[in-house]
Amino acid sequence: MPGDSGASRRAAMYGADDLSSMAIFSGNYINFGYWQDFTPGLISVDERTESQANLYRTVLRRLEIAPTDVALEVGCGIAVGTVLVLQEFNPSTIYGLDLSQDQLDRAARANFELIARQPDRLVLQRGSALKLPYAGETFDICYSVEAAQHFEELAIFASETHRVLKPGGRLAVATFFMTHPTATTELRELIETIHSGIDVVAAIGSFRDGLLAAGFVDVHVESIGAHVWHGFDAWIAQTEFKDSWGRNWLKAYHRGLIDYYVVTADKNEI
Ligand SMILES: C[S@@+](CC[C@H](N)C(=O)[O-])C[C@H]1O[C@@H](n2cnc3c(N)ncnc32)[C@H](O)[C@@H]1O
Repeated sequence: MPGDSGASRRAAMYGADDLSSMAIFSGNYINFGYWQDFTPGLISVDERTESQANLYRTVLRRLEIAPTDVALEVGCGIAVGTVLVLQEFNPSTIYGLDLSQDQLDRAARANFELIARQPDRLVLQRGSALKLPYAGETFDICYSVEAAQHFEELAIFASETHRVLKPGGRLAVATFFMTHPTATTELRELIETIHSGIDVVAAIGSFRDGLLAAGFVDVHVESIGAHVWHGFDAWIAQTEFKDSWGRNWLKAYHRGLIDYYVVTADKNEI
């Protein structure tokens, strides 16, 4: 689609095209997955789904959630991860925010029973990471799993999350970033979703700087690529996409162009 913008391609991907239905994902999750001790061998669909749940667990273990906490997930997708966080980490309430109404409709269907049983504990809302539809100092915890690669202005995302967090609140963001700003050209050649603008992909250093500029403290950047790329590539190799550009993610990692990170940051107490 020449002339099509990254934003409209993204809208289609999470709208009518329903990325979650593609064989590279499973269990209503849409992330690359976390593989603690990946060993080559046949991966079952259940194991693939578990890898995606484990990415959530990896991120949320870095935040100490108290039972009184109100949490926000930005880019919740079909909200199966949001529900995992609610059930395994037990905040009092969790808000799942996503730009795509189609994704939120899928989320409402997938989590119908829980929402009917505990309507006050899981709140799904449409909105943008760049203009969070909440008053200042609303949340104790804010996190995002494999969505920030779509946010056009990470500095605005940083200032928005800082605004909606209470003093002492904590942020965690997991996704892939460029290892250095000069990787763009090579990555565009290797990765179709970067070439098309679906993935914006900032350099990790600029995201860290944006968090500091927004007022966050104790910004901590951790590479988890060793637990992501090999398992994800092995899974792609089992699917109909085994001969696709999707195999280039691992190549880009091996060439030192891209990595997968968990970034945590705190908002100062006053
Ligand atoms: C790769 S999916 C990840 C979904 C979920 N976190 C998971 O791991 O299964 C990215 C999600 O981010 C959402 N998204 C993209 N841009 C966004 C934005 N600017 N604000 C909020 N959500 C956004 C998409 O609609 C999509 O549901």
